Parts: sequence; structure tokens; C-alpha cells
Amino acid sequence: MSSHRPIVKAVVPVAGLGTRFLPATKATPKEMLPVVDKPAIQYVVEEAQAAGIVDLLFVTGRNKDALENHFDHSPNLERTLMDKGAIAMHDELMRIVELAHIHYVRQGNPLGLGHAVSLAKEHVGDSPFVVMLGDDLIDAKTPVLPAMLNAYEKHGGSILCLMEVPASEIHLYGCAQVEATDDPDIVRVTGLIEKPLEGEAPSNLAVIGRYLLQPEIFAVLADQEPGRGGEIQLTDAVAQLASAPDVAGGVHAVIFRGRRYDTGDKLSYLKSVFQIALDRDDVGPDLRAWMIEYLASDS
Ligand code: UTP
Repeated sequence: MSSHRPIVKAVVPVAGLGTRFLPATKATPKEMLPVVDKPAIQYVVEEAQAAGIVDLLFVTGRNKDALENHFDHSPNLERTLMDKGAIAMHDELMRIVELAHIHYVRQGNPLGLGHAVSLAKEHVGDSPFVVMLGDDLIDAKTPVLPAMLNAYEKHGGSILCLMEVPASEIHLYGCAQVEATDDPDIVRVTGLIEKPLEGEAPSNLAVIGRYLLQPEIFAVLADQEPGRGGEIQLTDAVAQLASAPDVAGGVHAVIFRGRRYDTGDKLSYLKSVFQIALDRDDVGPDLRAWMIEYLASDS
């Protein structure tokens, strides 16, 4: 039996403006952009379900109705599919509705990721919880939540997910200062800097959009001043938990070496579509053959 409190809830912030993907995201949330035939957010919900977490709180904003509709019943469509004998697609739509219990809270103004997470205080209560960024897609073939839950079993406290990135890209991420543990895939986090300036980065370990946090984070967020970009940064609040290990058990991190995409970034989004499509039996073989032919041609 674990001595740590179990993780049963996830907070999924989806209230960002998605300015890097305009004009596609003017009227459509970036989390609804399709990756092959599913919106990006569905991969996130399926990832949570696969890890046994089915109580999700979406932090939404304006223009996010499509997200709510996607995970809700559509009686007319369901009936039409049944009438046409499209049973498999009907059942697939039912499966999506039953993936999780999804709750919603609105972030009136997108004041930053830290602010979005602070709005989950009432729903989460006094238990540790997971944060899953709605635009971070982790390939189901290389999941990371199980490793984070194992690290939590072993070390308690809060657990981050870190990924090595080229030194030239670390200024785009939260960056971690770490110490080794006896496990090569787990480190202790001693400091964090959001989007470090050149020469300021203590490592090339970037914070990726999966967090396991202790509820003490809410008290820290309540007093958090705006940081980089004038936004209330989650990284700054987690840095405080890392610097006071006696308060909430400190911060460790899993080093993730699998496939992860930022679907709010155009190039990363395109990679997610191609790599996930190439892995699929229905479209993969034909797409691969076409790509080889296309890349070999002069066009
Ligand atoms: P990003 O910085 O990637 O989202 O936030 P963004 O602001 O939508 O992106 P750009 O830079 O304008 O293209 C990371 C995650 O945090 C959420 C976003 O929805 C995304 O999932 N977020 C960010 C919020 O929910 N609220 C905020 O105030 C900021």
C-alpha cells in the first residue's frame, strides 16, 4: 500500500489564446485542431484515462464551446449514425463521451498558466493532482504519466516532466536546475527559471506540460506576482515548492525521452500529424509510400 495520497484528478488548462496558430485559432480553440481524425485534446483525455485519471477539470475561456461539445452527447448525430447503420462510428462517439467526467471552470482573462491552475483550487481541494496542458500531446506509444506516478510513489512531493532540448531552444521553455538521484531517469529539482535569457539557463532540461502537484501550490499561486511576459507563471510557483522542500515534500522530475509535440506550434503540430498518421494501419502505409515518392521528386 502506498503511503502517499492517491491522484484522482487532473486539471487541463485550455484557456490560452493560441496566437502562434492564428488565423486557424481565431474562432476554433487550438486544442480542437485535428491530429489525423481526432482533435488534439482527445489524445490528452485518453492519456489521462489510460493512467486511471478520469476526473478532469478543464480551465476554459472564450470560444471554447467546441471543446465542451466534443465530449458531450450529440443526440441527432448519434441517431443518424444508427439509422445509417454506421454502428462502429456511433460506438466511437459514445466511447468519447464516456472517457472521463469532465468539469469546467472559466478563466475570464488569460493571465497566465499559473492563474489558470489557481482556478482549480475549489475543485481539487486538499489532494495532490495532475496538470496536463491541453496543447501538449504525448504519443500514446511513449506515455509519461505512469513514470511520474511511480516517481511520486518513491519520492512524494511534486513531480515534473523534463525533456532534453537543444541549448538554442531552452529559452522557449521553463528550465530546471537539478541534482542526480540513484535513478538515472529521476532527478531532484533545486531551481526553475521560466524562459531563461541567453547564458542564464542552468541546464538544457525543459519543463514539459505534465505536472503532479501538491495542493500547497494554491497558496503559493495566490501570492504569485506576474513573471515572464507579464503572466502569472506556474513555473515560478513550482520553483517556490522546490526551494522549500519541508513545506510540501520538494520537487522531483522524470526525464522523458519519448515523443511529445506542442500542437500550439505550427512545425511541431505538423510533425504530430505525420508521425501519428505514419504509425496507423489505415492511412500509414499509403502515406509513407506517397511521402517517399514525393520527397524523391523535384516538385
Ligand atoms: P501557451 O503559452 O502555450 O498558450 O500556454 P497560449 O497563450 O494559448 O499560446 P500562444 O503563445 O498564444 O500561441 C500553455 C497552456 O496553458 C494554457 C494554454 O491553453 C495552454 O494549454 N493557458 C495559458 C491557459 O489556460 N491560460 C492562460 O492564461 C495561459
